[in-house]
Amino acid sequence: MLNIESYQKSFISYLEGFAVDKEPQNLYEPINYILKLGGKRLRPVLTLMTTEVFGGSAENAMDAALSIEVFHNFSLVHDDIMDDAPLRRGQETVHEKWDLNTGILSGDAMLILAYQLFENYEPTTFRDLAKLFGKTALEVCEGQQYDIDFETRNDVTISEYLKMIEYKTAVLVGAAMKMGAIVAKATVEDQKAIYEFGRLLGIAFQLQDDYLDAFGNPKTFGKQVGGDILEHKKTYLYLKTIALGSAENKLNLQTAMTSTTLSNEDKVTTVKGLFKSSGAAEATQHAVKDYTNKAFDVLNSLNIAEDKKQVLRLFGEQLMNRRV
Ligand code: IPE
Ligand code: IPE
Ligand code: MG
Ligand code: MG
Ligand code: MG
Repeated sequence: MLNIESYQKSFISYLEGFAVDKEPQNLYEPINYILKLGGKRLRPVLTLMTTEVFGGSAENAMDAALSIEVFHNFSLVHDDIMDDAPLRRGQETVHEKWDLNTGILSGDAMLILAYQLFENYEPTTFRDLAKLFGKTALEVCEGQQYDIDFETRNDVTISEYLKMIEYKTAVLVGAAMKMGAIVAKATVEDQKAIYEFGRLLGIAFQLQDDYLDAFGNPKTFGKQVGGDILEHKKTYLYLKTIALGSAENKLNLQTAMTSTTLSNEDKVTTVKGLFKSSGAAEATQHAVKDYTNKAFDVLNSLNIAEDKKQVLRLFGEQLMNRRV
């Protein structure tokens, strides 16, 4: 079992070899662009680490890890269209750099490429990976649809929100880990347990993503700060402001979010102020800790060596404290 950075390095060098150098260029160039743009490579690292946690070799898990990363990047290309996002990893989003149609079709091709990578596995592993992938990818679509539906709803509950982020984000983190377990031929029981660890970590991860969307440092965050506010996203910050804020907080939140006279900058500043003064910002940080701890409880109950648990714990802590 190696450390987190070593898995990241070996994954990145595998990814370097994946460039699709084919015609038509306008289909494949954006794919290479987004895949080489950087990013934290969290999900593939989890796949590789999980394989070794269950006694397999990370090398055998490279195609599964790559598949997860290609799928993740596909979902980002389409997500940025849906969220009207100008920036990704500090650079122009695909639909800004090219155009909408390019983003749609390159994204579609990436989804297919992700699936094709499973063809490199023998039939039983192929079947298990493909089955998990299909289920997860459909859930991500469902989560993304809820996310969009919630933009125009004013009665979204915290439990609806939690289901939405479980689907759009957390199931992919769970699946990334379960794929590692599948490649290592871990028992079905271990596969389930590690999926649950990843799912809980994924919920914490999306809560932190919501937090950073408002409170990240614009110089280092890599995405448009305040994008969720401008898109009327029903984030944890927003829902907690409604739940915890004074009557005045709530009124000011509605007024600022729907204002047609405030500039975008003023809108974001005002809403961020309300996220703080209502206690919602702090509540979000608490929720990140809570879900990370829930994940750690699952980890503690796993039947694996303590040093392996320690590497996964460190990963969870780094996620919780991340700033990008
Ligand atoms: C962004 O994921 C999309 C979410 C699910 C919040 P990451 O924060 O992992 O994005 P990269 O790959 O590191 O850029
Ligand atoms: C992204 O959620 C979830 C998926 C891409 C499926 P966000 O819309 O919050 O992700 P970012 O903030 O744009 O990375
Ligand atoms: Mg987005
Ligand atoms: Mg989105
Ligand atoms: Mg976000």
